[in-house]
Amino acid sequence: MDEGRKIWAPDNVHGFVLGTISDLGVDTITIQPLNGQDAIAAPYDSVFPAADDSLGDVDDNCKLMYLNEATLLENVRVRYSKDKIYTYTANILIAVNPYHDMGTLYSSSQVAKYKGQSLGTLPPHVFAIADKAYRDIRNLRQSQSIVVSGESGAGKTESTKYIIRYLTEAWGTGAGAIEQRLNEANPVLEAFGNARTIRNHNSSRFGKFVEIHFDAEDKVVGGFVSHYLLEKSRVCAQLRGERNYHIFYQLCAGASAETRKKLHLAAAEGSKYLNKEGVIADPLTNDVKAFQIVQGALEKIGVSESDKMKMFRVVAAVLHLGNVQFAADTSNPKGGSFVQPQSKDSVDVIAELLGLESSDLEAALTGRIMTPGKAGGKGTVYRISLKLHEAVAACDAFAKALYVSLFDHVVEKVNQGFSFKESSTYIGILDIAGFEFYQTNGYEQFCINYCNEKLQQFFNNRVLKEEQELYVKEGLDVEVVTFADNQDCIDLIEAKSVGIIDLLDEESRLPQSSDMHFCQVLHDKHKKHFRLAFPRDTKFAVTKSMRDDEGFVVRHFAGAVCYKAAGFIDKNNDALHENLEILMIDSKEAFVKSIFESYLKKQEATSPQSKRKSGGRKLALVSIGSKFKSQLADLMGKLKSTGASFVRCIKPNLKNAPSTFMGGEVLSQLHSAGMMSVLDLMDDGYPTRTPFHGLHELYKNRVPSTLTSLDAKSFCEALFKTVGMHESDYKFGETSVFFRPGKFAEFDQIVEPDSGRRTALVSKTVLWFVKARWRKAQYAVLSIIKLMKKIQYRANSRIVIQKTAKMYLAKKKHQQRFKIASKLKMLLERLTFMRTLVQSLNKSSQERLLATIETYENGVNSMLTKVKSTEMNRIVLQAKYKELLAKVHSLLETLETAQKQQKVEASNATAMRVAFEAEKQSREEMELRERQEDEARKEKAEMEARRKKEEEEARKQQALLEQEKAAKALQEKLIAEEEAKKMKITEQERRDHELALRLAQESGDQSVAAKSTRQSLRRSVLVTEKQEARAQQKHDLSQWKYAELRDVINTSCDIELLEACRAEFHRRLKVYHAWKLKNKKNVDAATSKGEEDHKRAPDAIIETAKLSSPPEAAPKKPQEVQPAEVPQRYFRVPFVRPSQKGQPGQSKGWWYAHFDGNWIARQIDMYPGKKPVLLVAGKNDIDMCELSLTETGLTRKKGAEILPQQFEEQWSRLGGPQYSRPANRKK
Ligand SMILES: Nc1ncnc2c1ncn2[C@@H]1O[C@H](COP(=O)(O)OP(=O)(O)OP(=O)(O)O)[C@@H](O)[C@H]1O
Ligand SMILES: [Mg+2]
Repeated sequence: MDEGRKIWAPDNVHGFVLGTISDLGVDTITIQPLNGQDAIAAPYDSVFPAADDSLGDVDDNCKLMYLNEATLLENVRVRYSKDKIYTYTANILIAVNPYHDMGTLYSSSQVAKYKGQSLGTLPPHVFAIADKAYRDIRNLRQSQSIVVSGESGAGKTESTKYIIRYLTEAWGTGAGAIEQRLNEANPVLEAFGNARTIRNHNSSRFGKFVEIHFDAEDKVVGGFVSHYLLEKSRVCAQLRGERNYHIFYQLCAGASAETRKKLHLAAAEGSKYLNKEGVIADPLTNDVKAFQIVQGALEKIGVSESDKMKMFRVVAAVLHLGNVQFAADTSNPKGGSFVQPQSKDSVDVIAELLGLESSDLEAALTGRIMTPGKAGGKGTVYRISLKLHEAVAACDAFAKALYVSLFDHVVEKVNQGFSFKESSTYIGILDIAGFEFYQTNGYEQFCINYCNEKLQQFFNNRVLKEEQELYVKEGLDVEVVTFADNQDCIDLIEAKSVGIIDLLDEESRLPQSSDMHFCQVLHDKHKKHFRLAFPRDTKFAVTKSMRDDEGFVVRHFAGAVCYKAAGFIDKNNDALHENLEILMIDSKEAFVKSIFESYLKKQEATSPQSKRKSGGRKLALVSIGSKFKSQLADLMGKLKSTGASFVRCIKPNLKNAPSTFMGGEVLSQLHSAGMMSVLDLMDDGYPTRTPFHGLHELYKNRVPSTLTSLDAKSFCEALFKTVGMHESDYKFGETSVFFRPGKFAEFDQIVEPDSGRRTALVSKTVLWFVKARWRKAQYAVLSIIKLMKKIQYRANSRIVIQKTAKMYLAKKKHQQRFKIASKLKMLLERLTFMRTLVQSLNKSSQERLLATIETYENGVNSMLTKVKSTEMNRIVLQAKYKELLAKVHSLLETLETAQKQQKVEASNATAMRVAFEAEKQSREEMELRERQEDEARKEKAEMEARRKKEEEEARKQQALLEQEKAAKALQEKLIAEEEAKKMKITEQERRDHELALRLAQESGDQSVAAKSTRQSLRRSVLVTEKQEARAQQKHDLSQWKYAELRDVINTSCDIELLEACRAEFHRRLKVYHAWKLKNKKNVDAATSKGEEDHKRAPDAIIETAKLSSPPEAAPKKPQEVQPAEVPQRYFRVPFVRPSQKGQPGQSKGWWYAHFDGNWIARQIDMYPGKKPVLLVAGKNDIDMCELSLTETGLTRKKGAEILPQQFEEQWSRLGGPQYSRPANRKK
């Protein structure tokens, strides 16, 4: 076991705790925490190696020694403890809320410091992100957006303010008016749109997208604020401990006595809209002071005193509306209501403030007008009295509508303050409520979370998907990183006709609509949808007891949220009673009339097709949900058309306290912020890139003209070589150069214009360039010489080819004639020889025979001439030759007869016989040769046919193999997809659980935390399957401790058990080593550079093993083995370092292995220049080859196996201890 190795183990409270390994299990690893708490058994994929330096921190998480969630969390924690609240993960900024004043962190001198500096050159800062966006505008001429996200209270709005301040201060015109107004807009927007909530004392209850516009010279020319989803319900009611919008309290506390008198305002405590459940005083806010600031800010953005007063009149009117009380009209048999006498004053005040007739207002609040359709009397208008609850609802709806129209007006005023005529580009900063989850959640949370789903998808697409697509397009070889796609969740919400939004709209159109029915339909429509569940599936008593038609659970990217359906239909509908609208439009107060008119116009503008139904309160206008859906689509369109930067705000604790870091809380937020996927991608990704021409443009003024005349790519090459950038720090793509995290800043610093090194750098570049040109020239000359030689060689070869071909053709054409000609010559020789024979005959025979010979000779000669001069076909030639041959044969026979007849001299006769024999033999030889030639020809033809057949068979075999391979690949793909699906479910379950835990912690619910731990959820389905399979085996060793297995191996005499233990032991080692490999050190971390991990086996063996079986292959059932049968085999494999491949001597090392049966028993590592390492199983297992002999492929490796004596010799020479085989143990 890796003694003392520091490991991070999962922990619900701290996120991770540091410990050391105490046991290696089947699927889990047991860690003994250093803080003394109980040992933790966690799955391999939830524990991570820790860096040795526990107090060090890095600016960019990509530079961590180990890139994993535990080290990321630890880095953020250590930095936070040092008051470094900002950290990068590549180009994304993590901002942890400090909850205290950061001193000079945001001072003007800091603004000046960050101005124009590349990201990474200075410590992480929100200013650096703002500056990057600005410089991207300049360099890429493309508008930019900065998405600031995070939970409520994480610091989004503060960060947004700092970004705006930085951009206006660093890159404003300097004139000041516009810049000041851009900054002053904040207190105004916050007064009307922020409120104290349980999570944040200054929570923005609306989303905003602030655009800062720049002219062609990239100077600030103005701005524009778009707002989203103001939380209307807060106007009339707040949760316990929360407050209404700040402006109500500020007005009550801060307005002068005279103003308060005009507005008939008393203390805030007197207002029903402020004193129901909520609190009035906020210890963290000084309402009087805040009111003064708002007054001043309103003035600075150009709102006059009288306009201010008009706004305050509406605010006051809303407060007074809260005090109007109604009572049921018992005298009316159809039911009805009236304003209680004690509230009459309030109605009068409201009427006065809004420029209405008091009686009209009272009538509109207690009744509505009905214009009957065709059936009723034409033109007759009926007044229907509202029931008590209807009157209360109408009054609240009126207050909300009033406040919303006022807020719209405030935003409009703000926008007028920094309006602009023309702009070239803009930086948009999005500050919108982050993901929200409570034990029960309403329509507002639903909309907010829907928005966050969309933003998460944008983040995934921009940071992970598009980034990876770009790598592929540019030809960079970067490993693919998968991420959870949340499109299915977005579809569940916004799909046409079946999505939650459309189902809700559909329900609102029904005559008898109800929240319950909507809920039923939703569950029916999406039975078994992965993202939708019943409240009973949750873990909390409050939601668990909810009926199926009372709510629904959406499994968002950040975790499961349970929504209570009650109120969904009402909140989805903005419409007011028509008579209230008419009343307002007829207001005598021009201001009130105009804000209400534009409010109505805005509603109608968003729904040109919608027609108001007379008197109906059923979805006369486009619903809030649909409106928000189209607003979001617009926003996404804007974001997609810009370059994006991300600021991920993190809330470090639930108490909003400084210096308190709750690891579990933060980890969950880091998960939701997608930081882990980014870290995975950046393991070998390139977050920064610059087009070649961009770099050329940027640096051409800093280098001499000799270099600027180069084309952009060559220029970049020259620049990079000369500045001495390490080759692994950047990569050249097709159009751009890509930098590893943090490396662009390094590069930028080197070529910094004011740097003293500039002259040296320029001369170095020039020198490099000259050298490069010289090298190129040398290379060109050598290439030309090589080419010339190649041409010569080819010319010679051509002659040989031609010669050979001609010869072949000539042979083919003339071979038969040549052969016949040779044979004819032989015939002539024979005839000449016959002449000598004839000499020995008597005269009479002599003359006759000589005449015949001569005739034949003439015949042969004439044929020879003919063969030489004419092309003849083989058959004719053969026939003619055979004819001549036959004649010669018959002549020979005649000669023989003559000889016999004569019998003159014995010697002559003998000579004749010998000659005859010789002639016969030569004839037979010739025939034999011809026969042999025929046979060889036949054999060759047969061989060729055989070869072709074999070739064909091999081809078929290959095709079959390929088919099998394709089928296997397909199967593997399917398995991988299945596994990915399972992983997605497991990951979602983990997030759901994490969220549930946080909620439980927040609400003090102990049951959830105690029931299940984070670790157990991470077990994949596969693990369970594997466990079941193991249970079927003879020896189930899954529950055994690592040390127990080792003890049995070292001491047991039960061979069967021993083998089972060895298999199990090595399997665990394999899993552990696979984990180590997966969590290997980050090559970018400076400290790990040049470090080489201990090798347990030569790379070639590990590669072979990878091909033969996956590391977690289940152990085979132990075979019945006898001790004597266990084979002992010895191997020796060389190590050659890649850089010194092919060189003898020093660079070569040897790896010796002794396998006792299927598992390693002893190992010798002999590295060049290092002391030999001798390892024995049972003692040094963690450093030894964990693979089985079969997996290593050593037995199939030529020359690897050695004799036992060779191993033993080496072992004892190096001083290895005596080895005793477990198989030799006696019982
Ligand atoms: N950089 C910072 N320095 C000091 N205090 C900060 C900083 N950022 C946030 N805070 C503190 O945290 C509080 C909450 O921050 P902020 O209002 O920006 O949260 P938010 O993410 O916008 O929340 P919500 O979604 O509720 O609007 C601030 O009022 C302030 O007290
Ligand atoms: Mg905010």
